[in-house]
Amino acid sequence: MKKRVTKAIFPVAGLGTRFLPATKSVPKEIMTLVDRPLIQYAIDEARAAGIKEFIFVTSRGKSALEDYFDHSPELENQLRKKGKTELLETLKSTNMDSGAIAYIRQHKPLGLGHAVWCARRLLANEPFAVILPDDVIAAETPCLQQMVEAYAELGGNMVAAMEVPDNRTNAYGMLDVKEDMGSVVSVKGMVEKPKIGEAPSNLAVIGRYILSPQVMSNLNKLKSGAGGEIQLTDAIAQEIENSENVYGFRFRGQRFDCGSKAGFLQATVAFAMAREDLRDEFTDFLTDMLSVRNAAQ
Ligand code: UTP
Repeated sequence: MKKRVTKAIFPVAGLGTRFLPATKSVPKEIMTLVDRPLIQYAIDEARAAGIKEFIFVTSRGKSALEDYFDHSPELENQLRKKGKTELLETLKSTNMDSGAIAYIRQHKPLGLGHAVWCARRLLANEPFAVILPDDVIAAETPCLQQMVEAYAELGGNMVAAMEVPDNRTNAYGMLDVKEDMGSVVSVKGMVEKPKIGEAPSNLAVIGRYILSPQVMSNLNKLKSGAGGEIQLTDAIAQEIENSENVYGFRFRGQRFDCGSKAGFLQATVAFAMAREDLRDEFTDFLTDMLSVRNAAQ
């Protein structure tokens, strides 16, 4: 049965080791893409998709993330007094309603599946979204909104999917496609990080999901999967065994892997170039950099 999706889980309890030493004290999700922390992009996307309740699965050392969502009346007063209306509006647009956010602890980083499972008591028998904030997606219609629209037609379970080259299939959950219907594929199997050459297709799962409550029950029963972690992929794949529908959704947009240094830098360039207030100066700078580099070669 299809229901409205109003709750989203944001698993943010990972160690973020690829950004050490920064992540010794700064949660990865607070790191800044131009002038907004990664988590803000995720929240904006969720809001656009109609999400009303935001569940963060956090861990030790993430208090900066919790603080980020506090209102800042002193700062707002200062900006008001100084007539900085635009900044005031920017700040206010990040305010969250009281009670709209919940924080749940994952005491050990036992994997994405385990992180999602930690939120089980905050969900009733209802479908829910999962957003990984380090997958940032630039899109005209935000990715989760595209998925919510497709989900309203199809129901079942839906994962965001994108084509990856053969030599990258070992970095993702990969889809075994039953039927390719264009923007949506139906899925007959999923495998987490298969060896190169063993992936059932080139369609990789990335960090947006709409899942049925049954997936949470599957997580209850799961033992450790690939890499000793409790894999969300395995709990979704079980739904296929239960003869439930799982769909891959080819979203329209560009995804950046901001969990990696190269991806974060690429996103920084792309988002800066998309900003009217930065575009010209930044393009000039990049052009100069490239010509210096080319001249040196
Ligand atoms: P990653 O695989 O990127 O792991 O997790 P990580 O710990 O954040 O980063 P690295 O690999 O050490 O650099 C993908 C998402 O799942 C969350 C992470 O916070 C991130 O949003 N996650 C992962 C958890 O919440 N708990 C876990 O046990 C593992």
